Amino acid sequence: MNFQLLKDTVSLIFADDKGLLAMDESNGTCNKRFEKLGIPQTVESRRAYRELIVTTPGLGESIGGAILFDETIRQQKSDGTPFVKVLIEAGITPGIKVDTGAKELAGHPGEKVTEGLDGLRDRLQEYFQMGARFAKWRAVIAIGEGLPSSGCIEANAHALARYAALCQEAGLVPVVEPEVIMDGEHTLEQCREVTDKVLRTVFSELFAQRVSVEGMVLKPNMVLPGMSSGSQPTLDQVADATVSCFLRSVPAAVPAIAFLSGGQPAESASARLNAMNARFKSRLPWALAFSFARAIQQPALEIWNGHQANVAAAQKALYHRARCNQAARRGEYSQEMETK
Ligand code: 13P
Repeated sequence: MNFQLLKDTVSLIFADDKGLLAMDESNGTCNKRFEKLGIPQTVESRRAYRELIVTTPGLGESIGGAILFDETIRQQKSDGTPFVKVLIEAGITPGIKVDTGAKELAGHPGEKVTEGLDGLRDRLQEYFQMGARFAKWRAVIAIGEGLPSSGCIEANAHALARYAALCQEAGLVPVVEPEVIMDGEHTLEQCREVTDKVLRTVFSELFAQRVSVEGMVLKPNMVLPGMSSGSQPTLDQVADATVSCFLRSVPAAVPAIAFLSGGQPAESASARLNAMNARFKSRLPWALAFSFARAIQQPALEIWNGHQANVAAAQKALYHRARCNQAARRGEYSQEMETK
């Protein structure tokens, strides 16, 4: 294992308070988002949209790494330049989603396990040769009546740890994403309890599989009440619950925590990340950063709407959200940034 390479990659992608841009929606997920806006669900539409993202002027000022999907890492700009080359020239490290999706977990109604370990060693070698320096694997944990089960948490944590060990062997930094999803009526406190249990199990499995936690990134959910709970916690409540949960369950040797946005409105995701950094940054052992998909892309996607004429305006919106989240890493984000 090239431990120095892993550490250097983490330092590079989070330097200058940058974060990750997740643009690794599978074809199915990307098509669903296009469908809602009436955008054609074709290979060419997906390519054109990803070209818009990777060619956004100045994106590398606030984005240190971009997570790609298998289709996208093999695509090019309309002039033939590979996306990987465009990203590297913009100072953005390419990453790759390597799981093959969350499938129904046998014997556990309402729960899922993420697949993709078969043949992973060979796929990682290929992605490394293509220029990827980090990878992502997302596990999904639902809260509900009697959920999550220990069986679901353990199966997902074990798969995450096996994936992470294979990544490190191949020279790729594993982004370890156990997502406690926001769907449901649960309280903030229930989310905190489940997130705590999930993270403890994940780190126990990572240690068992001899993953070096210094050479990984954790991509967790923020601690939030369920979307149908009707509860509106304050920024301070979210920041307190999230940070106190991580202080108990995430080893200090982990260099960076990069949140997923999970369906929060873009401005809420920035404000909550900002509250955590503004209040706690100087006392935390790990960097608190972002790895958002929807909370960076959604405004830009809606402006683009499939039309070439809207590309420049959409790129401006993407650049703006990326800058807001960089400011949130510094604890310097404010509502005024949105109206300026
Ligand atoms: P969201 O920020 O839209 O939750 O996506 C992050 C991600 O990469 C999910 O795997």
